[in-house]
Amino acid sequence: MRIEAVFQIFAALAVAVNASPLSLTTRHVVHERRSEPPPRWSRHTRLHPAATIPVRIGLAQQNLHRAEEFINEVAHPDSPDYGKHWSKEKVADMFAPAPETVDSVKEWLHSSGIDPSRIGMSRSRNWLKFDATVAEAERLLKTEYHLYRHEMGHNHIACESYSIPDHLTEHVDIVTPTVHFDTRIGSPRKTMKHKNLPEPVLELNRMAKRDLATRPLHGLLGSELDASNPKQGAEIKNALMTLANCDTMITPACLQALYDAPPNTLSMPNNSLGVVEYTPQAFLQGDLNMYFKQFSPSQDGVSPDTHLIDGASIQTKNQSFNFNGESALDLEFAMTLIFPQQVTLFQVGDLVNGGSFNNFLDALDGSYCTFEGGDSKDPNIDGQYPDTMPGGFDGPEACGTVQSTNVISTSYSSNEADLTAKYEQRQCLEYMKLGLQGVSILYSSGDFGVAGNSGQCINPVTGAYNNGSSGIFNPSFPGTCPYITSVGATQVLNGSTVRSPESASERVIFSGGGFSNVFPMPSYQKSALATYFANHAPPYGADRFNNSQTVRGYPDVSANGVNYVVAVDGQFSLAFGTSASCPTFASLVNMINAQRINAKKSPVGFLNPTLYANPQVLNDITVGGNQGCGTQGFTSVEGWDPVTGLGTPNYPAMLDLFMSLP
Ligand SMILES: *[C@@H]1O[C@H](CO)[C@@H](O)[C@H](O)[C@H]1NC(C)=O
Ligand SMILES: *[C@@H]1O[C@H](CO)[C@@H](O)[C@H](O)[C@H]1NC(C)=O
Ligand SMILES: *[C@@H]1O[C@H](CO)[C@@H](O)[C@H](O)[C@H]1NC(C)=O
Ligand SMILES: *[C@@H]1O[C@H](CO)[C@@H](O)[C@H](O)[C@H]1NC(C)=O
Ligand SMILES: *[C@@H]1O[C@H](CO)[C@@H](O)[C@H](O)[C@H]1NC(C)=O
Repeated sequence: MRIEAVFQIFAALAVAVNASPLSLTTRHVVHERRSEPPPRWSRHTRLHPAATIPVRIGLAQQNLHRAEEFINEVAHPDSPDYGKHWSKEKVADMFAPAPETVDSVKEWLHSSGIDPSRIGMSRSRNWLKFDATVAEAERLLKTEYHLYRHEMGHNHIACESYSIPDHLTEHVDIVTPTVHFDTRIGSPRKTMKHKNLPEPVLELNRMAKRDLATRPLHGLLGSELDASNPKQGAEIKNALMTLANCDTMITPACLQALYDAPPNTLSMPNNSLGVVEYTPQAFLQGDLNMYFKQFSPSQDGVSPDTHLIDGASIQTKNQSFNFNGESALDLEFAMTLIFPQQVTLFQVGDLVNGGSFNNFLDALDGSYCTFEGGDSKDPNIDGQYPDTMPGGFDGPEACGTVQSTNVISTSYSSNEADLTAKYEQRQCLEYMKLGLQGVSILYSSGDFGVAGNSGQCINPVTGAYNNGSSGIFNPSFPGTCPYITSVGATQVLNGSTVRSPESASERVIFSGGGFSNVFPMPSYQKSALATYFANHAPPYGADRFNNSQTVRGYPDVSANGVNYVVAVDGQFSLAFGTSASCPTFASLVNMINAQRINAKKSPVGFLNPTLYANPQVLNDITVGGNQGCGTQGFTSVEGWDPVTGLGTPNYPAMLDLFMSLP
């Protein structure tokens, strides 16, 4: 009650002192809306009107309608320009928003009382950014901001919907923070120059700060509750090295045998393999050493080349499979498979905020986030970092300061339905831009079959998540982004050897797969999906998935994801997941790049157009399914399917193919 009362007094003050009130003639239209908070989040207190939030406006970019044409130029095997990747500058110039877009949005801000001197702009003119009081942002966007609280205690600033003037809808992609729950907004930690605020308002600001300071020491992606973490199996007392046991224990030698990949021998400059981890997920050097002693003795003591992004740390305080399993699995297998080539670990997010996929993209691409002349020293323009909360990272947000690797493997995923379509489209286009620059981006497809993380599906009436016993299939993101390579999981059947065909994973985890509710079908999938629907039409209607045959299907490829022997917290145990298959596939792509670089060719970059045009370089998987949502899910069949994609790597065939390209 007290907060409301003071709010009203302050709102009246704010209007009285505002020099240039909003034009009353501008007609606003709803730009984005979310019906209810994501699972486990609930709406908490209304934000204090004098608190400050960092507002970012993502401007509509030019030439995006040509994105597929451009990517095919550099990534389609029939293109004369295959492998001729673009520079960062060429990418930024091609997609920079039109001057008219920049001008009209700036004009709106100015006429709404945001002085141009407060507005920062990205080098590529992609984003406008300024700090605003909650009262200002609420008036600008005709919305109300609340603090949302996660079950685990994490806080987030959001609103249910927001509006912008109707003449700007074509010019603005998204505004943050608003309805999105992926962005990690620290806190309304700095007030602008409101030195003359009445004491009750200042006291409420202090209260809000104390409230925010109670956040637990982690974000969500990479936390011990992240459902994209690998699943733990039995403890292994004696890790067996023979190929006879690959149906119960997967070792690097099993993978090399399954995919006919020789131990790597080449190490090329600038060809490190990128592996992304999100804090507080962390590796322990002792685990790596334990693993290497068993499987690759010459690597004992070797560490990944670690890049700490946005105040990241490799925490050792909390140790358990859920805190260490993902990093151990990814690093132990990738480092062994590609040795003597190095692995680069991109560790993202501090212990307070955690990180999001966008934080990582910001670090790689200055044109996605930097502001004229780099990050401003002005605290009114700085973004989420520095974070002044206790224990928070107080350096500047990483922004175009991190050199990308040729291949990036990420074993984390969320659901498409966690985020808004506009947000996902914008992030997906960022992967397209990395593809143009020759980077291969691989994501795990999820471990819950046609269901989303934790096995949740979508209630067809309310759109909310349910317990997974019924409902609409729940595809994963970024798995459905057409500019990444989505990796599903397979298994060696009980009693089978590495010489017999694998099946889709049906042990502990089911390969994430299905059809997007956001992204249209890319041209490279046209023929594969037409064949799939013609020969193997799935037994479900539009009440389960978008069966229009015009949307993106996933995964693209797969690799073994069952029974990986991993050293975690000082013991060997089994791990399961597309978390395992993704770095395995990425390791083989890294080895192919080494051969191409050695032959004075460019790295392969975006893989999908070449793989879909040459499905013979993958071992087709035709057994198994990916159950979920109370159904058997989809079934692995001859040709591409939404369980195992085109199949698992046939390394010699893949190598020959990519070496034959310019
Ligand atoms: C590695 O990449 C960096 C950045 O693109 C470049 O400046 C450098 O010349 C490259 N080094 C080699 C050996 O190719
Ligand atoms: C992590 O460890 C710290 C210190 O031991 C403890 O206070 C905290 O509760 C742990 N966090 C979780 C999520 O277990
Ligand atoms: C899941 O939800 C359905 C429908 O509400 C209910 O009938 C079923 O008992 C629930 N199952 C579990 C395991 O909670
Ligand atoms: C395969 O082996 C596992 C582990 O021994 C066992 O749990 C599972 O039931 C077996 N599956 C089949 C199909 O035999
Ligand atoms: C399926 O996707 C198509 C193409 O994006 C879209 O037009 C259609 O509305 C979607 N169907 C459903 C039921 O969402």
